Amino acid sequence: MIEVVSFVSGAPVVVPVAEASRPRPLRVLVVANQKGGVGKTTTAINLGTALAAVGERVLLIDSDPQGNASTGLGVPRAERRVTLYDVLMGATPLLDAVTATRLPGLDLAPADPDLSGVEIELGQEARRSFRLRDALQAVRDSGRYTYVLIDCPPSLNLLTVNAMAAADAVLVPLQCEFFALEGLSQLMRTVDLVRGSLNPRLEIQGVVLTMFDSRNRLSEQVAGDVRSHFGDTVYRTVIPRNVRVSEAPSFGKPVLVYDIHCAGSQAYLKLAREVVQRERARREAA
Ligand SMILES: Nc1ncnc2c1ncn2[C@@H]1O[C@H](COP(=O)(O)OP(=O)(O)O)[C@@H](O)[C@H]1O
Ligand SMILES: [Mg+2]
Repeated sequence: MIEVVSFVSGAPVVVPVAEASRPRPLRVLVVANQKGGVGKTTTAINLGTALAAVGERVLLIDSDPQGNASTGLGVPRAERRVTLYDVLMGATPLLDAVTATRLPGLDLAPADPDLSGVEIELGQEARRSFRLRDALQAVRDSGRYTYVLIDCPPSLNLLTVNAMAAADAVLVPLQCEFFALEGLSQLMRTVDLVRGSLNPRLEIQGVVLTMFDSRNRLSEQVAGDVRSHFGDTVYRTVIPRNVRVSEAPSFGKPVLVYDIHCAGSQAYLKLAREVVQRERARREAA
């Protein structure tokens, strides 16, 4: 059992266990959904923090030109000297773009608005869809991390395709709202396309229901529909709508640091344990 005891001045105090110290292969998870505002960035930041808090070594790659994950982790624009743009354009190794966050165990490869130019600048260049996968190889070889999380933009553009081509598995945040299932089907078709062409081994890590409001009947209904269509792919953990979660980024902090006791923080810790359990089950089955 891995327990987070507390956060002292922003640093998670972790009781490490044998499992956490054993060398494990890196898992690259892409946080994707072509819809905006469904909780991708919030999940990337807070799942990343929660994984670090339970003893994983995490790199968060911000692959959205809006750079919300970078801002939310307290890395201001002025400090983003080397960004994912430089990496995808081939100017810099990915490890040179990595910056530490204030949280031990969680590093960041930041983004800035230049990233939106990548699609046009790469044009029809060979291996344009494999830029991130190629850049990640040195990170895989380095053994520095146990998880890479990639935060995607709200579209199925070249950045998302690069992320899916580079990843081992997809983690889908899904907001409990009326068109959720249609959006999810479209995303699953894209994953199938990527499997058929760029990355045959791409798996689905899971679907996480976000911004769940137990007072809202629609939330319950959508959650039920999603579970009956996608079964165990959907995590048992549900992320509740919680005002502390939405306040935290304006302080440049993950919600786990802003208020570890709130329902949102506790849910992201539970999600991290579920993600780790799935990975362990997958390794044991292999
Ligand atoms: N569990 C939650 N409770 C309350 N607000 C949330 C929650 N998750 C996300 N939000 C808020 O919803 C908005 C969209 O979330 P975000 O993670 O930026 O979505 P995306 O990256 O998919 O566009 C943000 O303002 C964020 O703070
Ligand atoms: Mg986002």
